Amino acid sequence: MEGSKLVGIIGTGDFGRALANRLLRCGYDVIMASRNPDLSRLISINPSLASVEVKTTKELLEDPNVEIVFLAIHSWNFESCLTPFKTQIQQKIFIDISNRERPSKTESNPERLVEAFPGLRVVKAFNTLSAYALESDTFGGAKQVLIASDDSTAREKISTLAREMGFTPIDYGVLRAARDLEAYPLTLMYGWGWPTLFCLCIFIGWNIVLCIAYVKFYMRSSHKFKWDHVPLAYVNKAVCLTAITLLALSYLPGCLAAFLQIINGTKYKRFPTWFDQWLKARKMIGLYALFFSVWHVAISGIYMSPGYLGSWFESTRVHFPENTSNFVYDFSVRMNLRGEGTISVGILALLMMSILGLSSLPSVGAVLNWREWRFVQSHLGYVTLFLVTAHVVIFALPGWMRDPTAMLLRSTFMCCVIPFIVLFMKLVLITPCIGGYLDKIRRGWERRKSHKVSGNQISLKYTNMSSSDSVDTFT
Ligand SMILES: Cc1cc2nc3c(=O)[nH]c(=O)nc-3n(C[C@H](O)[C@H](O)[C@H](O)COP(=O)(O)OP(=O)(O)OC[C@H]3O[C@@H](n4cnc5c(N)ncnc54)[C@H](O)[C@@H]3O)c2cc1C
Ligand SMILES: NC(=O)c1ccc[n+]([C@@H]2O[C@H](COP(=O)([O-])OP(=O)(O)OC[C@H]3O[C@@H](n4cnc5c(N)ncnc54)[C@H](OP(=O)(O)O)[C@@H]3O)[C@@H](O)[C@H]2O)c1
Ligand code: HEM
Repeated sequence: MEGSKLVGIIGTGDFGRALANRLLRCGYDVIMASRNPDLSRLISINPSLASVEVKTTKELLEDPNVEIVFLAIHSWNFESCLTPFKTQIQQKIFIDISNRERPSKTESNPERLVEAFPGLRVVKAFNTLSAYALESDTFGGAKQVLIASDDSTAREKISTLAREMGFTPIDYGVLRAARDLEAYPLTLMYGWGWPTLFCLCIFIGWNIVLCIAYVKFYMRSSHKFKWDHVPLAYVNKAVCLTAITLLALSYLPGCLAAFLQIINGTKYKRFPTWFDQWLKARKMIGLYALFFSVWHVAISGIYMSPGYLGSWFESTRVHFPENTSNFVYDFSVRMNLRGEGTISVGILALLMMSILGLSSLPSVGAVLNWREWRFVQSHLGYVTLFLVTAHVVIFALPGWMRDPTAMLLRSTFMCCVIPFIVLFMKLVLITPCIGGYLDKIRRGWERRKSHKVSGNQISLKYTNMSSSDSVDTFT
């Protein structure tokens, strides 16, 4: 960094101490200002701060060697802390790291500070990091420092400081952007709201379908419904039906988008907003599918026995020969082909889905190139959907064949309808003629039909865009 490697921090609280620690480790000299400047107190809390200088706020602000000062105090103390030093503060660059209790679209802490002290050079930064992230020894990783200020030179200087502290600075522009930066730490799982609600609705929907099916079945049958099996056996059904539905629903929009692009003859026509939102929610829906699958597998693993899944195991029926008093039977029941086949395919599907889940982690995605990422997310994804469908078909086919008329009403068949549709669409899309045409459209080619009706003649006009014009809209 140009100039001095000396930085000031006002406030010796959690964040101030974490900042000081990080700055020291990155080769900076640090002066901390406190209402009670006592180095021994600071060292007793954090021994690694022994080389810090502790002064009063007045001494720090009057030190001409200190240009950059972190305001590591709560925003409601800003004015009372700085008002006595109106002239000194004009020489400094202040970094406002404060957060709010509630986001505001009309004001931010640094804007209020500039209003109170006109001309003050303030930079909003570091507020999206926690004291823990600053203390963390793992320097790598994606730790971004979002920066906003009306003073571009100050913004530059703080970007350099952030970089030298081992972070990645991101320039957010003018101070007004501080409103967004202050809202950022207050948002809870941004973008997950409606996908979560959507997945919950699918889960509730399957529970309703299963309840209706159970009530109908037990009204007609002589068996009594056993509440004992609700926590595992019943819940497992609702969970795995939700898992397969969500997996299919994360791949359905990609296929629909492809057909829409073929019908429109261009990839540049905007999709309806709801469809666009669905495309953007595929990651969340896919990850929820993984969540429900792991839940299903955990339950299944526990009740994997002939008692629960009689048809998956060799027969457990034992015939005692007549008039035999000392008959011995070696009772070891193993799975039959149906059971082993279903489980084997299910395990493979889960492993593949886990690879999809891993590749959606930013740190893993970052080391994959575009082709590798698409291979995992798109190609392996469809193979996973195929395997999951096969898992259910192997399990359910004997039942479907036993009573084909009731097949449509079976949960095993109902849950396969969307996967069948998606797999069929994908099969059509990879045929050479349709796949080739789609590829052309996705490279930027457009089919523009201008219907010029002269007499009985309709002429079709085709235009071709160069591939450099193409914009890949994949997200
Ligand atoms: C466990 C798991 C994890 C997943 N993680 C992720 C993840 O991290 N990120 C992720 O994106 N998906 C994720 N998914 C969902 C899914 O794997 C991917 O979206 C996958 O790339 C879909 O491939 P596709 O070939 O169907 O569609 P694509 O080929 O990706 O899409 C079809 C076409 O639609 C168009 N299109 C797509 N999105 C838009 C858009 N927003 N606006 C306009 N046009 C658009 C493009 O032209 C694109 O070529 C995950 C799924 C699972 C099961
Ligand atoms: N903690 C985090 O993880 C985190 C993350 C992002 C942003 N922040 C922001 O960082 C700022 C500090 O947070 P913190 O967690 O460090 O809080 P804290 O532990 O409560 O520390 C605040 C410090 O401010 C000083 N102070 C208190 N009252 C004061 C007053 N009237 N006048 C001047 N100084 C006063 C005190 O230091 P002295 O006793 O030495 O004067 C005190 O230690 C806040 O604005 C917060 O929003 C914190
Ligand atoms: C290790 C992997 C897996 C194991 C051990 C496993 C086990 C089972 C078991 C035991 C059943 C029978 C449930 C019952 O009738 O009570 C079943 C059915 C089913 N499984 Fe799996 N499974 C696995 C993977 C998956 C995955 C990854 C999915 C979906 C994404 C899935 C979806 C289904 C569905 C939809 C059914 C049919 C439910 C019904 O209507 O009865 N399974 N599986």
